[in-house]
Amino acid sequence: MERLNWGMIGGGEGSQIGPAHRLGAGLDGAFIFAAGALDHRPSAGRAYGQTLGLTPDRSYGDWREMLEGERGRADAVDLVTVATPNATHFEITKAFLEGGFHVLCEKPMTMTVEEGEEIVKLSQSTGKICAVNYGYTGYSLVRHMRAMVSRGDLGHVRVVVAEFAHGHHADATDADNPRVRWRYDPAQAGVSAQFADCGIHAMHMASFVVGQDIERLSADTVSCIKSRVLEDDAMVNFRMSGGTVGRLWTSSIAIGRQHGLTLQVFGEKGGLRWSQEQPNQLYHMPIGKRLQVIERGEGGLSPEADRTSRVTVGHAEGMPLAFANIYKDLAEAIHARKNGRDIDPAADLYPRAEDGLRSMAAVFAVAQSGQSEGQWVDARPPMFR
Ligand code: NAI
Repeated sequence: MERLNWGMIGGGEGSQIGPAHRLGAGLDGAFIFAAGALDHRPSAGRAYGQTLGLTPDRSYGDWREMLEGERGRADAVDLVTVATPNATHFEITKAFLEGGFHVLCEKPMTMTVEEGEEIVKLSQSTGKICAVNYGYTGYSLVRHMRAMVSRGDLGHVRVVVAEFAHGHHADATDADNPRVRWRYDPAQAGVSAQFADCGIHAMHMASFVVGQDIERLSADTVSCIKSRVLEDDAMVNFRMSGGTVGRLWTSSIAIGRQHGLTLQVFGEKGGLRWSQEQPNQLYHMPIGKRLQVIERGEGGLSPEADRTSRVTVGHAEGMPLAFANIYKDLAEAIHARKNGRDIDPAADLYPRAEDGLRSMAAVFAVAQSGQSEGQWVDARPPMFR
């Protein structure tokens, strides 16, 4: 298959998420890293891009220069990843969609619901893909959970319990550390801190696996470290479009927890439990039977699981390979469009702009409910009501 050209904005030297994107995009040989504007400091971005193998003319100083430079090229990038800080996502994603590029945007996709709606409309009107990096849905066994639910292995799903609780902002003496403080400052982070940063991954995963949208929610948001304006811990109850009840806990003060993303699904015929820190095992409890451990890579799973598994059973696969599965889906989606054919249904699972928008609506609903003693509020974006 023809290799696609890939570009990246943000993800410069020392960034947290840049390396995982480069590993993920490069893993299957589907994308060539061809262009980038990697840093908010033009000279640092240009220099770092070249150390990563970009040619000097395609290692750009900023994203506007990259947009201009790529637009006229016969070998222009087929996909642009936006991995800059949150407040810049909207402007950059909008400009590249309008410029005729497919985009993979980091989460949260935008800062407001209105911006999210604009991106969804733009993706529809331009016909360009706007994916959002809920990259943990790329794990093979998360795909398998979704397949099990959709083929009815659990029957109707009664309750889904999601967690994304870590303990990395638990030290009160760290509250004024500039690297931590901005995350809880409404001027820089928006209306929500921990839910917007981590809770939305858990909520999106619940929705992805159960195959239902979030309709209403009630949130209890607290700042355990009193100097923080925005929440560092939240418990969110929600109701989904197919009647499933949702419970979600997210926290940044949970000392002893590391990444802490887990999902439990309880249906009429069985239960599932998956945890991101041990992503190669899925626990399945069929009603009335013994607990079964499903191993990533074993035979007889779903096409969705088989497509997203690379090394043989018993060898660990981790987070960059989950991101690689988002890129693998996007490569298939781009090739399908280029060749005027249908996408492989097992690849048609990458998170969309619509998912990014639903998350923004949930962020604002959590903030609103949290400020009104947990009052139940509509969690749907206006355009999907
Ligand atoms: P970071 O602060 O570690 O790195 C940001 C990078 O973007 C830096 O290299 C910086 O120089 C560059 N940058 C800033 N403004 C720029 C601009 N205008 N043009 C070009 N480059 C620019 O941030 P981090 O943690 O890597 O987060 C980036 C984004 O990724 C955030 O939106 C965050 O929410 C998201 N993220 C997503 C994760 C996921 O699992 N999907 C995990 C971690 C972060």
